[in-house]
Amino acid sequence: MTSMNQQWRLVRRPQGTIQPGDFTWHEIPVRPLEEGEVLVRQLYLSLDPTNRVWAATDSYLPAVAVGDVMRGVGVGRVEDSRHPGFRTGELVQGLLGWQRFEISSGRGLTRVPSLPGVEPAMFLHVLGHIGLTAWAGVLQVGRLQSGETMVVTAAAGAVGSIAGQIGKIRGGRVIGVAGSDEKCDWLTRDLGFDGAINYKTQPVRARLQALCPDGIDVQFENVGGALLDAALAHLKIGGRVALCGLIAGYAAATAPPGIANLHYLVSRRARIEGFLVSDFASRAREAYGELHGWLTEGRLKVRFTIVDGLGEAPAALNRLFDGSHDGKLLVRID
Ligand SMILES: NC(=O)c1ccc[n+]([C@@H]2O[C@H](COP(=O)([O-])OP(=O)(O)OC[C@H]3O[C@@H](n4cnc5c(N)ncnc54)[C@H](OP(=O)(O)O)[C@@H]3O)[C@@H](O)[C@H]2O)c1
Repeated sequence: MTSMNQQWRLVRRPQGTIQPGDFTWHEIPVRPLEEGEVLVRQLYLSLDPTNRVWAATDSYLPAVAVGDVMRGVGVGRVEDSRHPGFRTGELVQGLLGWQRFEISSGRGLTRVPSLPGVEPAMFLHVLGHIGLTAWAGVLQVGRLQSGETMVVTAAAGAVGSIAGQIGKIRGGRVIGVAGSDEKCDWLTRDLGFDGAINYKTQPVRARLQALCPDGIDVQFENVGGALLDAALAHLKIGGRVALCGLIAGYAAATAPPGIANLHYLVSRRARIEGFLVSDFASRAREAYGELHGWLTEGRLKVRFTIVDGLGEAPAALNRLFDGSHDGKLLVRID
């Protein structure tokens, strides 16, 4: 029997938050496989801030072409295979797109290891691109040392919550910046952060001064804008900014105001370094080994917000920008 595919196609470059008319829903039969192809049934689709960038403009990847299936990372099961490298029933991860089924040549598709007690969704969180980003940003780019102070923005989100916990595991003092009291309580009570700042209700610069009286060694930056500007003024001599993302600008109708405190990089002999998770693909095995170990020991805690149904994907993407999710945001498809 022919399976039906369901897809979201991009039909208009979004302006501001995602609007209902930016994507259209399609239902088409899955075509038969050709030699060398593999059919994947997607289980979970990862919603990432970068999806909003991919829909709008060229970045480190070309923008999704208008009319194409929206790009997205997912985890799924091989439904059928005419590819020598993949067997029916195997769990795989890759750019499966905003659709129920993906026909792949196998390029960019990786087999997910079978780890006892580990749910497939975990491979889109701490044991996937999120965990590797946090690991690389804290340890390779920020080079956090024991006893140093690290500040993390979007700290209750997917990358931020893992980055902060890695900082604690490695002996750092960690302060999180997040958008609600509930999120701040989670950081300090459950994840062991040393302090948290609700940037929506508290004066960030004054709170950074109070919580980091000797300055910031590592700024793990996920947001940019006013939060990054405030942190630059508190960098220690030799401070490092691991520039992971700038979500404050991704869906903004106009570009956020520029950085006023750049001059502190001179007087503090500090550096700011952008990075992409893909730069650390060669370290993935080492990173996942450490992350899985910490997870198994209960030293890393994770939270998910799981939205049911592929139909919800466009509206759910906006939750990354208004903060109405906890931890990793996923769509459960099957
Ligand atoms: N460099 C890389 O390779 C790489 C890889 C993955 C992710 N990233 C980046 O990492 C960052 C976090 O990604 P994620 O997937 O973990 O998302 P996430 O943190 O789970 O979700 C985004 C969070 O950002 C906060 N936020 C949104 N707009 C904001 C604003 N204007 N000001 C302050 N906070 C805002 C919201 O939390 P609040 O409730 O706290 O506002 C929201 O929950 C993003 O910048 C993303 O682009 C980079």
